[in-house]
Amino acid sequence: MEIKRTITIKNEEDTKEFGLWLGQNARAGQVLALIGDLGTGKTTLAKYIAEGLGITDYIVSPTFTIIREYEGGRLPLYHFDVYRIGDPDELFNIGAHDYFYGQGLCVVEWADLVEEELPEDTMYVFIEYGNEEGERIYKCTF
Ligand SMILES: Nc1ncnc2c1ncn2[C@@H]1O[C@H](COP(=O)(O)OP(=O)(O)O)[C@@H](O)[C@H]1O
Ligand SMILES: [Mg+2]
Repeated sequence: MEIKRTITIKNEEDTKEFGLWLGQNARAGQVLALIGDLGTGKTTLAKYIAEGLGITDYIVSPTFTIIREYEGGRLPLYHFDVYRIGDPDELFNIGAHDYFYGQGLCVVEWADLVEEELPEDTMYVFIEYGNEEGERIYKCTF
């Protein structure tokens, strides 16, 4: 996978700026894969993406439900957290492919666990911890 840009995030304010930009520029049928260890800020980034879409609902981690849908923004947001999925095949059972090829924005936390099921044109953000507190490194395929 080719990394097109590397962004140094200094603090949560930078995460917010990037998330708002992603949400404001998202298009229908886009799938955004967020890959990074626990606590790197995948859910936090998803919250700011939702804000960028104009969604005012409180965003909670969908760890136990795999997927949560949010309407009311410029596009629907389908927020996935596949951390607890046993097998990538399970995505079929929850109808994930209808969302992946649907009319909303899909944001998928722990996407590395289901990579084989994701559409060809999925956009990836690999998130790593930086050296300072609050710092993160985003490696993007777009
Ligand atoms: N630059 C940053 N971006 C995102 N979260 C950050 C950042 N700096 C500190 N944090 C904190 O790190 C935590 C990230 O948690 P969370 O978003 O739930 O991570 P994940 O979903 O990857 O497990 C939050 O408590 C958040 O406030
Ligand atoms: Mg999370």
